[in-house]
Amino acid sequence: MRLKEFSTDTIIEPFRIRSVEPIRFTTTSERKKLLAEAGYNPFLLKARDVLIDLLTDSGTGAMSSQQWSGMLASDESYAGSSSFYNLESAVCDITGFKHVIPTHQGRAAENILFTTIANKGDVIPSNTHFDTTRAHVEHAGAEARDLVIDEGHQPQNQHPFKGNMDLDKLRDTILEVGAQNIPVIMITITNNSGGGQPVSMENIRLVSEIAHEHNIPFFIDACRFAENAWFIKMREEDYAHMTPLEIARQMFSYADGCTMSAKKDGMANIGGFLAMNSDELASNCRNLEILTEGFPTYGGMAGYDMEAVARGLYEALNEDYLRYRIRSIAYLGEKLIGAGVPIVQPTGGHAVYLDAKEILSHIPPKQYPAWSLNNALYLLGGVRGVEIGTVMFGMQPDGTEKPASMELVRLAFPRRVYTQSHVDYLSEVIIATYEQRKRLVGYRIVEGSNVLRHFSAKLEPLSR
Ligand code: F0G
Repeated sequence: MRLKEFSTDTIIEPFRIRSVEPIRFTTTSERKKLLAEAGYNPFLLKARDVLIDLLTDSGTGAMSSQQWSGMLASDESYAGSSSFYNLESAVCDITGFKHVIPTHQGRAAENILFTTIANKGDVIPSNTHFDTTRAHVEHAGAEARDLVIDEGHQPQNQHPFKGNMDLDKLRDTILEVGAQNIPVIMITITNNSGGGQPVSMENIRLVSEIAHEHNIPFFIDACRFAENAWFIKMREEDYAHMTPLEIARQMFSYADGCTMSAKKDGMANIGGFLAMNSDELASNCRNLEILTEGFPTYGGMAGYDMEAVARGLYEALNEDYLRYRIRSIAYLGEKLIGAGVPIVQPTGGHAVYLDAKEILSHIPPKQYPAWSLNNALYLLGGVRGVEIGTVMFGMQPDGTEKPASMELVRLAFPRRVYTQSHVDYLSEVIIATYEQRKRLVGYRIVEGSNVLRHFSAKLEPLSR
Protein backbone atom coordinates (compact mmCIF):
# COMPACT_ATOMS: atom_id res chain seq x y z
CA MET A 1 0.00 0.00 0.00
CA ARG A 2 1.42 3.37 -0.99
CA LEU A 3 -0.13 6.35 0.74
CA LYS A 4 0.30 9.87 -0.55
CA GLU A 5 1.95 12.14 1.99
CA PHE A 6 -0.64 14.08 3.96
CA SER A 7 -0.26 17.71 4.84
CA THR A 8 -2.64 19.82 6.88
CA ASP A 9 -3.34 23.52 7.27
CA THR A 10 -4.40 23.00 10.88
CA ILE A 11 -1.57 23.94 13.20
CA ILE A 12 -2.21 22.08 16.41
CA GLU A 13 -1.09 23.12 19.88
CA PRO A 14 2.39 21.56 20.15
CA PHE A 15 1.80 20.22 23.66
CA ARG A 16 -0.47 17.95 25.68
CA ILE A 17 -2.31 19.32 28.70
CA ARG A 18 -1.73 17.40 31.91
CA SER A 19 -2.77 19.96 34.48
CA VAL A 20 -5.91 22.07 34.10
CA GLU A 21 -7.39 25.16 35.68
CA PRO A 22 -11.19 25.56 35.54
CA ILE A 23 -12.65 28.82 34.21
CA ARG A 24 -15.92 30.22 35.52
CA PHE A 25 -19.00 31.18 33.52
CA THR A 26 -21.02 34.26 34.52
CA THR A 27 -24.21 35.78 33.10
CA THR A 28 -24.47 39.15 31.35
CA SER A 29 -26.41 40.64 34.28
CA GLU A 30 -23.76 39.43 36.74
CA ARG A 31 -21.05 41.01 34.59
CA LYS A 32 -22.94 44.31 34.42
CA LYS A 33 -22.91 44.46 38.20
CA LEU A 34 -19.28 43.31 38.51
CA LEU A 35 -18.03 45.89 36.01
CA ALA A 36 -19.90 48.72 37.74
CA GLU A 37 -18.42 47.62 41.08
CA ALA A 38 -14.97 47.70 39.48
CA GLY A 39 -15.44 51.38 38.54
CA TYR A 40 -15.79 50.32 34.88
CA ASN A 41 -12.08 49.51 34.92
CA PRO A 42 -11.32 45.91 33.88
CA PHE A 43 -7.99 46.10 35.76
CA LEU A 44 -10.08 46.21 38.95
CA LEU A 45 -12.13 43.08 38.16
CA LYS A 46 -11.40 39.87 40.03
CA ALA A 47 -9.81 37.35 37.68
CA ARG A 48 -12.34 34.71 38.76
CA ASP A 49 -15.05 36.86 37.19
CA VAL A 50 -13.34 36.76 33.77
CA LEU A 51 -13.94 33.88 31.36
CA ILE A 52 -11.19 34.46 28.79
CA ASP A 53 -8.48 36.71 30.18
CA LEU A 54 -6.50 38.52 27.49
CA LEU A 55 -5.51 41.43 29.70
CA THR A 56 -1.88 40.57 29.13
CA ASP A 57 0.53 37.93 27.90
CA SER A 58 2.82 38.92 30.77
CA GLY A 59 3.46 36.29 33.43
CA THR A 60 0.22 34.53 32.51
CA GLY A 61 1.65 31.62 30.50
CA ALA A 62 1.71 27.92 31.31
CA MET A 63 5.08 26.48 32.21
CA SER A 64 6.42 23.24 30.82
CA SER A 65 7.28 20.06 32.73
CA GLN A 66 10.93 20.92 32.01
CA GLN A 67 10.55 24.27 33.73
CA TRP A 68 8.75 22.76 36.74
CA SER A 69 11.39 20.07 37.14
CA GLY A 70 14.11 22.73 37.08
CA MET A 71 12.25 24.71 39.70
CA LEU A 72 12.17 21.73 42.08
CA ALA A 73 15.91 21.30 41.69
CA SER A 74 16.72 25.00 42.19
CA ASP A 75 19.47 26.41 44.39
CA GLU A 76 18.20 29.04 46.83
CA SER A 77 21.61 30.20 48.10
CA TYR A 78 21.77 33.92 48.74
CA ALA A 79 25.07 34.37 46.91
CA GLY A 80 26.40 32.48 43.92
CA SER A 81 23.52 30.02 43.50
CA SER A 82 23.85 27.58 40.63
CA SER A 83 20.39 28.69 39.45
CA PHE A 84 21.87 32.13 38.80
CA TYR A 85 24.71 30.62 36.78
CA ASN A 86 22.17 28.62 34.75
CA LEU A 87 20.29 31.83 34.01
CA GLU A 88 23.47 33.73 33.23
CA SER A 89 24.68 31.05 30.88
CA ALA A 90 21.35 30.95 28.98
CA VAL A 91 21.24 34.75 28.65
CA CYS A 92 24.89 34.98 27.54
CA ASP A 93 24.41 32.15 25.06
CA ILE A 94 21.34 33.76 23.46
CA THR A 95 22.28 37.45 23.66
CA GLY A 96 26.07 37.39 23.71
CA PHE A 97 26.12 40.11 26.38
CA LYS A 98 28.83 39.95 29.01
CA HIS A 99 26.95 41.03 32.16
CA VAL A 100 23.60 39.69 33.34
CA ILE A 101 21.79 41.52 36.15
CA PRO A 102 18.69 39.63 37.30
CA THR A 103 15.60 41.66 38.29
CA HIS A 104 12.13 40.76 39.51
CA GLN A 105 10.57 41.93 36.24
CA GLY A 106 11.15 44.17 33.22
CA ARG A 107 10.35 47.50 34.82
CA ALA A 108 12.93 46.90 37.55
CA ALA A 109 15.56 46.54 34.81
CA GLU A 110 14.26 49.79 33.29
CA ASN A 111 14.39 51.55 36.64
CA ILE A 112 18.01 50.52 37.20
CA LEU A 113 19.09 51.41 33.66
CA PHE A 114 17.42 54.81 33.40
CA THR A 115 18.22 55.87 36.96
CA THR A 116 21.87 55.06 36.20
CA ILE A 117 22.23 56.70 32.79
CA ALA A 118 19.50 59.31 32.26
CA ASN A 119 19.52 62.89 33.49
CA LYS A 120 17.07 65.75 33.49
CA GLY A 121 16.72 67.20 30.01
CA ASP A 122 17.98 64.07 28.22
CA VAL A 123 16.03 62.53 25.35
CA ILE A 124 15.65 58.77 24.92
CA PRO A 125 14.45 57.73 21.46
CA SER A 126 12.73 54.41 20.75
CA ASN A 127 10.40 53.07 18.08
CA THR A 128 7.64 53.22 20.71
CA HIS A 129 8.28 53.18 24.45
CA PHE A 130 6.03 50.83 26.39
CA ASP A 131 4.08 52.59 29.19
CA THR A 132 6.37 51.46 32.04
CA THR A 133 9.45 52.34 29.97
CA ARG A 134 8.08 55.81 29.27
CA ALA A 135 7.18 56.27 32.93
CA HIS A 136 10.72 55.31 34.06
CA VAL A 137 12.35 57.59 31.49
CA GLU A 138 10.14 60.46 32.66
CA HIS A 139 10.73 59.58 36.31
CA ALA A 140 14.46 60.08 35.63
CA GLY A 141 13.62 63.58 34.27
CA ALA A 142 14.24 62.67 30.62
CA GLU A 143 11.96 62.75 27.59
CA ALA A 144 10.76 59.48 26.03
CA ARG A 145 10.51 60.09 22.27
CA ASP A 146 8.70 57.70 19.90
CA LEU A 147 10.13 57.53 16.38
CA VAL A 148 8.32 54.60 14.75
CA ILE A 149 7.88 54.74 10.95
CA ASP A 150 4.67 56.44 9.72
CA GLU A 151 3.26 53.06 8.60
CA GLY A 152 3.34 52.06 12.28
CA HIS A 153 0.53 54.55 12.93
CA GLN A 154 -1.68 53.26 10.10
CA PRO A 155 -3.69 50.28 11.38
CA GLN A 156 -4.65 48.95 7.94
CA ASN A 157 -1.21 49.34 6.35
CA GLN A 158 0.29 45.93 5.47
CA HIS A 159 3.98 46.84 5.93
CA PRO A 160 5.77 43.66 7.12
CA PHE A 161 7.86 45.48 9.78
CA LYS A 162 5.64 48.19 11.18
CA GLY A 163 7.73 48.31 14.35
CA ASN A 164 10.73 49.78 12.48
CA MET A 165 12.29 53.01 13.69
CA ASP A 166 12.20 55.96 11.27
CA LEU A 167 15.91 56.49 10.60
CA ASP A 168 15.51 60.07 9.33
CA LYS A 169 13.60 61.03 12.46
CA LEU A 170 16.34 59.41 14.55
CA ARG A 171 19.09 61.37 12.74
CA ASP A 172 17.05 64.59 13.07
CA THR A 173 16.58 63.98 16.81
CA ILE A 174 20.33 63.50 17.29
CA LEU A 175 21.01 66.75 15.38
CA GLU A 176 18.32 68.62 17.30
CA VAL A 177 19.20 67.59 20.87
CA GLY A 178 22.88 66.61 20.49
CA ALA A 179 24.36 63.16 21.03
CA GLN A 180 25.62 64.19 24.47
CA ASN A 181 21.98 64.51 25.61
CA ILE A 182 21.00 61.04 24.41
CA PRO A 183 22.27 58.53 26.98
CA VAL A 184 20.81 55.53 25.12
CA ILE A 185 18.77 54.66 22.02
CA MET A 186 16.19 51.94 22.64
CA ILE A 187 14.21 49.69 20.30
CA THR A 188 11.27 47.58 21.44
CA ILE A 189 10.95 44.15 19.80
CA THR A 190 8.20 43.46 19.00
CA ASN A 191 6.68 46.93 19.25
CA ASN A 192 4.02 46.29 21.88
CA SER A 193 2.40 49.73 22.06
CA GLY A 194 2.37 49.93 18.26
CA GLY A 195 0.42 46.70 17.71
CA GLY A 196 2.94 43.95 18.53
CA GLN A 197 4.61 44.67 15.21
CA PRO A 198 8.08 43.36 14.46
CA VAL A 199 11.30 45.22 13.71
CA SER A 200 13.43 43.97 10.80
CA MET A 201 17.02 42.83 11.18
CA GLU A 202 18.00 45.55 8.71
CA ASN A 203 16.38 48.24 10.84
CA ILE A 204 18.05 46.95 14.02
CA ARG A 205 21.41 47.00 12.21
CA LEU A 206 20.93 50.53 10.82
CA VAL A 207 19.76 51.96 14.16
CA SER A 208 22.83 50.38 15.71
CA GLU A 209 25.08 51.99 13.07
CA ILE A 210 23.58 55.44 13.65
CA ALA A 211 23.87 55.06 17.44
CA HIS A 212 27.49 53.97 17.24
CA GLU A 213 28.47 56.72 14.76
CA HIS A 214 27.54 59.09 17.59
CA ASN A 215 28.94 56.97 20.42
CA ILE A 216 25.47 56.46 21.88
CA PRO A 217 24.77 53.06 23.48
CA PHE A 218 22.02 51.04 21.80
CA PHE A 219 19.74 48.85 23.96
CA ILE A 220 16.96 46.47 22.99
CA ASP A 221 13.75 46.15 24.99
CA ALA A 222 13.77 42.41 24.37
CA CYS A 223 10.49 41.25 26.00
CA ARG A 224 9.27 39.51 22.85
CA PHE A 225 12.60 38.82 21.14
CA ALA A 226 11.65 35.26 20.10
CA GLU A 227 8.43 36.36 18.41
CA ASN A 228 10.40 39.09 16.62
CA ALA A 229 12.94 36.50 15.47
CA TRP A 230 10.12 34.38 14.01
CA PHE A 231 8.78 37.32 11.99
CA ILE A 232 12.28 37.98 10.64
CA LYS A 233 12.52 34.32 9.62
CA MET A 234 9.12 34.46 7.89
CA ARG A 235 9.25 37.91 6.32
CA GLU A 236 12.79 39.16 5.77
CA GLU A 237 14.89 38.05 2.83
CA ASP A 238 17.85 35.78 3.65
CA TYR A 239 16.67 34.60 7.08
CA ALA A 240 14.34 31.72 6.16
CA HIS A 241 17.12 29.14 6.54
CA MET A 242 18.23 30.35 9.97
CA THR A 243 16.87 29.07 13.29
CA PRO A 244 15.12 31.52 15.64
CA LEU A 245 18.09 31.13 18.01
CA GLU A 246 20.57 32.14 15.29
CA ILE A 247 18.38 35.09 14.34
CA ALA A 248 18.08 36.16 17.99
CA ARG A 249 21.86 36.03 18.39
CA GLN A 250 22.30 38.21 15.34
CA MET A 251 19.72 40.76 16.57
CA PHE A 252 21.46 41.08 19.93
CA SER A 253 24.89 41.28 18.30
CA TYR A 254 24.05 44.80 17.07
CA ALA A 255 23.17 46.07 20.56
CA ASP A 256 25.16 47.06 23.64
CA GLY A 257 22.62 45.67 26.05
CA CYS A 258 18.98 44.85 26.69
CA THR A 259 16.20 45.12 29.21
CA MET A 260 14.03 42.04 29.51
CA SER A 261 10.76 41.05 31.10
CA ALA A 262 11.02 37.26 31.41
CA LYS A 263 7.24 37.24 31.91
CA LYS A 264 6.92 37.31 28.12
CA ASP A 265 9.42 35.35 26.02
CA GLY A 266 11.12 34.09 29.18
CA MET A 267 7.97 31.92 29.51
CA ALA A 268 7.96 32.47 33.27
CA ASN A 269 5.39 33.89 35.68
CA ILE A 270 7.85 36.44 37.08
CA GLY A 271 11.39 37.59 36.38
CA GLY A 272 13.54 39.75 34.18
CA PHE A 273 17.04 41.00 33.64
CA LEU A 274 19.26 43.76 32.43
CA ALA A 275 22.20 42.66 30.29
CA MET A 276 25.06 44.64 28.77
CA ASN A 277 28.65 44.65 27.60
CA SER A 278 30.06 47.71 29.38
CA ASP A 279 31.97 46.84 32.57
CA GLU A 280 31.58 50.34 33.98
CA LEU A 281 27.85 50.60 33.36
CA ALA A 282 27.33 47.08 34.78
CA SER A 283 29.19 48.00 37.92
CA ASN A 284 27.06 51.15 38.40
CA CYS A 285 23.87 49.23 37.73
CA ARG A 286 24.82 46.49 40.21
CA ASN A 287 25.29 49.10 42.93
CA LEU A 288 21.74 50.28 42.41
CA GLU A 289 20.48 46.70 42.07
CA ILE A 290 21.76 45.86 45.56
CA LEU A 291 19.79 48.81 46.88
CA THR A 292 16.51 48.10 45.09
CA GLU A 293 16.40 44.44 44.01
CA GLY A 294 18.86 42.33 45.98
CA PHE A 295 22.28 40.73 45.73
CA PRO A 296 23.45 40.55 42.07
CA THR A 297 23.16 36.75 41.87
CA TYR A 298 19.44 36.75 42.50
CA GLY A 299 18.15 40.30 41.90
CA GLY A 300 14.48 40.11 42.61
CA MET A 301 14.13 36.43 41.79
CA ALA A 302 14.03 33.21 43.75
CA GLY A 303 16.40 30.49 42.57
CA TYR A 304 13.42 28.62 41.12
CA ASP A 305 12.35 31.66 39.09
CA MET A 306 15.83 31.83 37.57
CA GLU A 307 15.61 28.13 36.64
CA ALA A 308 12.22 28.69 34.99
CA VAL A 309 13.58 31.59 32.94
CA ALA A 310 16.81 29.80 31.98
CA ARG A 311 14.73 27.01 30.39
CA GLY A 312 11.91 29.26 29.18
CA LEU A 313 14.17 31.44 27.03
CA TYR A 314 15.05 28.40 24.90
CA GLU A 315 11.48 27.06 24.82
CA ALA A 316 10.33 30.43 23.45
CA LEU A 317 12.73 29.93 20.53
CA ASN A 318 11.37 26.47 19.64
CA GLU A 319 10.12 26.50 16.03
CA ASP A 320 7.00 24.36 16.57
CA TYR A 321 6.02 26.59 19.47
CA LEU A 322 6.59 29.84 17.53
CA ARG A 323 4.70 28.54 14.48
CA TYR A 324 1.68 27.67 16.68
CA ARG A 325 1.95 30.90 18.67
CA ILE A 326 2.02 33.29 15.74
CA ARG A 327 -0.52 31.19 13.81
CA SER A 328 -3.12 31.30 16.62
CA ILE A 329 -3.02 35.10 16.62
CA ALA A 330 -3.25 35.25 12.81
CA TYR A 331 -6.17 32.75 12.92
CA LEU A 332 -8.25 35.08 15.10
CA GLY A 333 -7.20 38.02 12.90
CA GLU A 334 -8.40 36.24 9.75
CA LYS A 335 -11.81 35.49 11.27
CA LEU A 336 -12.26 39.12 12.29
CA ILE A 337 -11.11 40.52 8.96
CA GLY A 338 -13.49 38.09 7.24
CA ALA A 339 -16.36 39.58 9.26
CA GLY A 340 -15.28 43.15 8.43
CA VAL A 341 -14.00 44.03 11.93
CA PRO A 342 -11.20 46.64 11.64
CA ILE A 343 -8.00 45.41 13.31
CA VAL A 344 -4.33 46.33 13.15
CA GLN A 345 -2.84 44.47 10.19
CA PRO A 346 -0.88 42.36 9.74
CA THR A 347 -1.65 40.71 13.10
CA GLY A 348 1.15 41.09 15.64
CA GLY A 349 3.08 38.50 17.58
CA HIS A 350 1.33 38.30 20.93
CA ALA A 351 -2.00 40.00 20.43
CA VAL A 352 -4.81 41.06 18.15
CA TYR A 353 -5.46 44.79 18.30
CA LEU A 354 -8.98 46.03 17.52
CA ASP A 355 -9.12 49.46 15.90
CA ALA A 356 -11.61 51.25 18.14
CA LYS A 357 -11.19 54.61 16.39
CA GLU A 358 -12.61 53.00 13.28
CA ILE A 359 -15.16 50.74 15.00
CA LEU A 360 -16.55 53.44 17.29
CA SER A 361 -16.10 56.50 15.09
CA HIS A 362 -19.12 58.08 16.86
CA ILE A 363 -17.14 58.27 20.16
CA PRO A 364 -14.49 61.07 20.30
CA PRO A 365 -10.98 60.17 21.62
CA LYS A 366 -11.50 62.11 24.85
CA GLN A 367 -14.51 59.89 25.57
CA TYR A 368 -12.22 56.86 25.29
CA PRO A 369 -13.63 54.68 22.47
CA ALA A 370 -11.16 51.82 23.07
CA TRP A 371 -12.11 51.74 26.74
CA SER A 372 -15.76 51.51 25.75
CA LEU A 373 -15.13 48.67 23.30
CA ASN A 374 -13.09 46.71 25.81
CA ASN A 375 -15.84 47.01 28.43
CA ALA A 376 -18.42 45.85 25.90
CA LEU A 377 -16.40 42.68 25.23
CA TYR A 378 -16.51 41.89 28.93
CA LEU A 379 -20.23 42.60 29.22
CA LEU A 380 -21.14 40.50 26.21
CA GLY A 381 -18.72 37.60 26.54
CA GLY A 382 -16.72 37.75 29.77
CA VAL A 383 -13.60 38.61 27.75
CA ARG A 384 -11.02 40.98 29.23
CA GLY A 385 -8.59 42.88 27.00
CA VAL A 386 -6.82 46.15 27.60
CA GLU A 387 -7.26 49.67 26.25
CA ILE A 388 -4.22 51.06 24.49
CA GLY A 389 -5.43 54.54 23.77
CA THR A 390 -6.11 57.88 25.38
CA VAL A 391 -6.67 56.58 28.93
CA MET A 392 -3.28 54.82 28.81
CA PHE A 393 -1.27 57.42 26.89
CA GLY A 394 -3.27 60.66 26.87
CA MET A 395 -2.05 62.19 30.14
CA GLN A 396 0.92 64.52 29.51
CA PRO A 397 3.66 65.23 32.08
CA ASP A 398 2.27 68.79 32.43
CA GLY A 399 -1.16 67.46 33.45
CA THR A 400 -2.96 68.17 30.18
CA GLU A 401 -4.66 65.47 28.11
CA LYS A 402 -3.89 64.78 24.45
CA PRO A 403 -5.62 62.10 22.33
CA ALA A 404 -3.37 59.08 21.72
CA SER A 405 -2.31 58.46 18.12
CA MET A 406 -4.34 55.23 18.00
CA GLU A 407 -7.32 53.88 19.93
CA LEU A 408 -6.77 50.14 20.25
CA VAL A 409 -8.11 47.26 22.30
CA ARG A 410 -5.33 44.74 22.78
CA LEU A 411 -6.29 41.10 23.16
CA ALA A 412 -3.02 39.58 24.34
CA PHE A 413 -2.64 35.82 24.44
CA PRO A 414 -1.08 34.13 27.45
CA ARG A 415 1.49 31.62 26.19
CA ARG A 416 0.39 27.96 25.88
CA VAL A 417 -2.89 28.60 27.75
CA TYR A 418 -5.85 28.82 25.37
CA THR A 419 -6.83 26.40 22.61
CA GLN A 420 -8.45 26.82 19.22
CA SER A 421 -12.01 26.50 20.62
CA HIS A 422 -11.31 29.40 22.98
CA VAL A 423 -10.25 31.41 19.94
CA ASP A 424 -13.42 30.41 18.03
CA TYR A 425 -15.51 31.59 20.99
CA LEU A 426 -13.58 34.86 21.11
CA SER A 427 -14.21 35.61 17.48
CA GLU A 428 -17.96 35.11 18.07
CA VAL A 429 -17.92 37.55 21.00
CA ILE A 430 -15.96 40.19 19.09
CA ILE A 431 -18.15 39.92 15.99
CA ALA A 432 -21.34 40.14 18.10
CA THR A 433 -19.95 43.26 19.82
CA TYR A 434 -19.03 44.77 16.45
CA GLU A 435 -22.55 44.22 15.17
CA GLN A 436 -23.92 46.25 18.12
CA ARG A 437 -21.24 48.96 17.97
CA LYS A 438 -23.68 51.84 17.39
CA ARG A 439 -25.18 51.20 20.85
CA LEU A 440 -21.88 51.76 22.68
CA VAL A 441 -21.27 55.03 24.51
CA GLY A 442 -18.18 56.95 25.66
CA TYR A 443 -16.78 57.15 29.19
CA ARG A 444 -15.44 59.79 31.53
CA ILE A 445 -12.89 59.45 34.32
CA VAL A 446 -14.35 60.15 37.75
CA GLU A 447 -11.32 59.30 39.89
CA GLY A 448 -7.67 58.66 39.12
CA SER A 449 -4.01 59.57 39.48
CA ASN A 450 -1.86 61.11 36.75
CA VAL A 451 0.82 58.41 36.65
CA LEU A 452 -0.13 55.19 34.82
CA ARG A 453 -3.74 56.14 35.43
CA HIS A 454 -5.24 53.24 33.47
CA PHE A 455 -4.32 50.82 36.28
CA SER A 456 -6.45 52.46 38.93
CA ALA A 457 -8.82 55.03 37.41
CA LYS A 458 -12.56 54.78 38.04
CA LEU A 459 -14.80 55.65 35.13
CA GLU A 460 -18.45 56.08 34.33
CA PRO A 461 -20.35 55.56 31.06
CA LEU A 462 -21.78 58.72 29.52
CA SER A 463 -25.47 58.73 28.84
CA ARG A 464 -26.49 59.40 25.27
N1 F0G B 1 8.64 46.55 27.84
C1 F0G B 1 7.62 46.05 27.11
C2 F0G B 1 7.66 46.13 25.62
C3 F0G B 1 6.53 45.46 27.77
O1 F0G B 1 5.54 44.97 27.04
C4 F0G B 1 6.53 45.39 29.18
C5 F0G B 1 5.40 44.82 29.90
C6 F0G B 1 7.62 45.90 29.89
C7 F0G B 1 8.66 46.47 29.18
C8 F0G B 1 7.70 45.86 31.40
O2 F0G B 1 7.86 44.57 31.86
O3 F0G B 1 5.79 44.06 33.16
O4 F0G B 1 7.86 42.75 33.51
O5 F0G B 1 7.72 45.06 34.30
N2 F0G B 1 4.30 44.62 29.34
C9 F0G B 1 3.13 44.01 29.96
C10 F0G B 1 2.02 44.04 28.96
C11 F0G B 1 2.75 44.56 31.28
O6 F0G B 1 0.88 43.73 29.35
O7 F0G B 1 2.26 44.32 27.79
P1 F0G B 1 7.28 44.10 33.29
